[in-house]
Amino acid sequence: MLIAQLSDVHVGGARYSRELLEAAIGEINAAEPDIVVVAGDVTDEGYPDQYPLAKQELEAIACEHVILVPGNHDARNVGYALFEDTFGTRDTRMRLECAGLEVALVAVDSSKPDLDEGEIGREHYGWIEEGFAGDADLRIFVCHHHLMPVPGTGRERNQVLDAGDVISLLRQLSVDLVLSGHRHVPYVWPVAGMYIVHSGTVSTYRTRGFPHPAYNLVTVENGRIAVELKIPGGEQQSLGDYPRDWPEELSARHNDPFVRAPSGESLAND
Ligand SMILES: [Fe+2]
Ligand SMILES: [Fe+2]
Repeated sequence: MLIAQLSDVHVGGARYSRELLEAAIGEINAAEPDIVVVAGDVTDEGYPDQYPLAKQELEAIACEHVILVPGNHDARNVGYALFEDTFGTRDTRMRLECAGLEVALVAVDSSKPDLDEGEIGREHYGWIEEGFAGDADLRIFVCHHHLMPVPGTGRERNQVLDAGDVISLLRQLSVDLVLSGHRHVPYVWPVAGMYIVHSGTVSTYRTRGFPHPAYNLVTVENGRIAVELKIPGGEQQSLGDYPRDWPEELSARHNDPFVRAPSGESLAND
């Protein structure tokens, strides 16, 4: 099973390159992924002229399952409303069968209007729990902002405000993969039974730490999860090849009593 993870497209930005995006999408289409995740910042400022361009470019992705979430840049200038008009809902829950695996995927808008900081929000916890309930072979959580500090990003900032609670919640829910963007630095953190995978910026020269535009290809097969970084039109390198299942004592999926995911009525009902 193959997942293509791209983010930080920044259509309309000063350092945006359409050629990079076209190269990346061409390569992704050739790889024939089962799922494509676009983890936010599809536009640079959320402006009305940027959304149609972003939609037009991303429509070139030839995959049945394309999941998008907004980033902080998309939520600027009331762009969160334009995101909905252009791409549909900002939060997504879905179940799908991929390469013989039952996949549970929950994607949440972590952005707040006109703020760079993000938050998942306690009102979403029950909704997230419901999305991962029941049997699944692979559980994937998607949000734009990062849950862990990422090295090579300069001054550390913009983790989601409730990062600790969210990591605890996702661990309790047996999530396998977290796919995020935001800081434009490709990186993988293995944490307590999960792989928290960050993609770089796919189509801008707004790089830091890792000095190239990049996206990720995540392969799940034969009991392994492999993450490859790809520079559009350029080199590919490994971000790690990990065991699919963690030893019980390391994944340690106990409940933290202060992280509560009330089921029933939530503010993010389908
Ligand atoms: Fe970005
Ligand atoms: Fe961002």
